[in-house]
Amino acid sequence: MRKVNVALLGATGAVGEELIRLIEERSFPYANFKVLASERSAGKKITVGGRELTVEAVSPASFADVDIAFFSAGGSVSLQYAPHAVAAGALVIDNTSAYRLDPKVPLVVPEVNAKDISWNQGIIANPNCSTIIMVVALKPLHDAAGIKRVVVSTYQAVSGAGVKGMQELAQQTKAYAIGEKNAPAQAFTAEIAFNLIPHIDVFEEMGYTKEEWKMVKETQKILNEPKLPITATTVRVPVFRSHSESINVELKKKITVDAARELFSRTPGLVVQDNPAALEYPMPLYTSGKDSVYIGRIREDNSVPAGLNLWVVGDQIRKGAALNAVQIAEYVLQHDLLPGR
Ligand code: A2P
Repeated sequence: MRKVNVALLGATGAVGEELIRLIEERSFPYANFKVLASERSAGKKITVGGRELTVEAVSPASFADVDIAFFSAGGSVSLQYAPHAVAAGALVIDNTSAYRLDPKVPLVVPEVNAKDISWNQGIIANPNCSTIIMVVALKPLHDAAGIKRVVVSTYQAVSGAGVKGMQELAQQTKAYAIGEKNAPAQAFTAEIAFNLIPHIDVFEEMGYTKEEWKMVKETQKILNEPKLPITATTVRVPVFRSHSESINVELKKKITVDAARELFSRTPGLVVQDNPAALEYPMPLYTSGKDSVYIGRIREDNSVPAGLNLWVVGDQIRKGAALNAVQIAEYVLQHDLLPGR
């Protein structure tokens, strides 16, 4: 693979930091690496691959000579700067929700729909973290038996709200342990320690949150099934890292539990951890920092002729964000799909 010039916008954030770790671990073939953030972080030092780099404040001119630009600094920043990056000839891999539902922008989980990368026009969107984790498990079932309907409930870690979300859970837990009163919640709508908050992102139509609609609409787009019935409830839980999801899938054709296990064990990116007798099932404490999505508690749905209940857990900063973005970039390089080449 030839070496490319990379820019990372949002280099000081939780996903940005993870992306740097992955670039190093996977020996991503870069020549120059530019670390970008806001004015607030300009001048800070970040080490990438043993080299100390200086964070620059992003500007429209930041993308000259950049081949691949990872964006992870929020939707409004993507909307503002992605057009400049594309005009400069860079391929943008966008971690925000800014372009996910744009029909001109492929929304990609490489294990599921890598083929869609080829029709990009300069921007490829990385799906929402909970969506990525769910579709890795849904795709093999959809191919094997056809999905009729999905009902999902999530148990989402505080790191989904960035560095400040993790700090808030740590502070509140510490304060609780020593009997101190907590400061008012900032990263979340209520105290998160020892609590569950059934509210992620803003409320939208029909009483669903934006996070819930993202899971519905993004999954439909990735699976290329715009009418697939999906309904979601997303909940913030006091877990630092790794999202968990209880997924009920109704199928067009029956699949036994053994056949499903066998199917999942052959699915790239998925690890079956399903042996209740030995107390083996995926748990967020142990999947954190891992690349794969873990699946267990695989059971037939007792209430319909063909359906399964699944428990799926994955590190949402890794597979749910940074790793998925790096995998997209690796696919682009392996298939020689950089713009203008
Ligand atoms: P900064 O450190 O300068 O604020 P997280 O989601 O973990 O909070 O990270 C958000 C990332 O997005 C950080 O790197 C942050 O940089 C960056 N960011 C936020 N707002 C802007 C902006 N207006 N312009 C450029 N980068 C931004």
